[in-house]
Amino acid sequence: MAIICTHVKEESQDINVLRYSFHKVSEIRNMKTLNLILAESALEIVPREIVDHPSVKRWAERRGKDPDKVLLDISYHYAAMRGLLNWDRRGRPDIVYISLLNVLGSPLNKEGLLQVYVHTLNDFVITLDPEIKLPRNYLRFLGLVEQLFDIGKVPPKGKWLMKLEKKTLKNLLEELNPSKTIFLTEKGRKTKADKLGSMITKEDNPLVVIGGFQKGEFKEENMKLADEKISLYKRALDAWVVAGIVVHEVGRALEIV
Ligand SMILES: C[S@@+](CC[C@H](N)C(=O)[O-])C[C@H]1O[C@@H](n2cnc3c(N)ncnc32)[C@H](O)[C@@H]1O
Repeated sequence: MAIICTHVKEESQDINVLRYSFHKVSEIRNMKTLNLILAESALEIVPREIVDHPSVKRWAERRGKDPDKVLLDISYHYAAMRGLLNWDRRGRPDIVYISLLNVLGSPLNKEGLLQVYVHTLNDFVITLDPEIKLPRNYLRFLGLVEQLFDIGKVPPKGKWLMKLEKKTLKNLLEELNPSKTIFLTEKGRKTKADKLGSMITKEDNPLVVIGGFQKGEFKEENMKLADEKISLYKRALDAWVVAGIVVHEVGRALEIV
């Protein structure tokens, strides 16, 4: 009986070695950190043209702020925004908020394998410390981002948890120097989510770009920065759903979930 047990143990060890070597060949994982950018995000301070609009003034007053210090939000400023250029791609801080809650709370981020940036339609870039804990209340999130646009970093004193810089997407990519830049778009090459996970983890410095806007496509000049354009589903999905899929699939490919 003892001999049979030893034999079975040795055999299972062999199988494990075989499994391990097969795994090594089929799944090469070089990724150190996943860089994730929410690009052209619909996040900005109320533009000068509409600071005097009653809907903006009312909203600012309710929150005890100056009208030129509050974030543009289509839920509250719809009437004022209708006259703005590209109004239907602006004023959606909730897209950034929900996407950030999703990715910053992911196991991938808790394992220290994620770096998130928010690039805005007006070419600002917010860098987030992966350890930041965002408020669970939307209005408190707005307050924090308003402080960021006002002062340039949050908290105002000591080590920043969010910092704001004027920067184009192209400049940010030049700084990050990714080994592969993957844009997610409905117009991309149809790819299963698990394949995207392996494609990302094979790279040593991958970068994934997701649109932080509600309608339309990336600007031509930004789309040109892509090495790969990938579609995960036949129809348009919300940015936070796509962001959730990406961090989950990368976590799966790395076997942390
Ligand atoms: C709400 S979508 C942008 C608007 C969308 N193009 C439309 O016109 O309804 C936000 C972002 O999610 C990502 N996305 C949405 N659907 C996708 C899909 N089927 N495959 C891959 N990425 C997608 C893209 O990065 C897109 O820019």
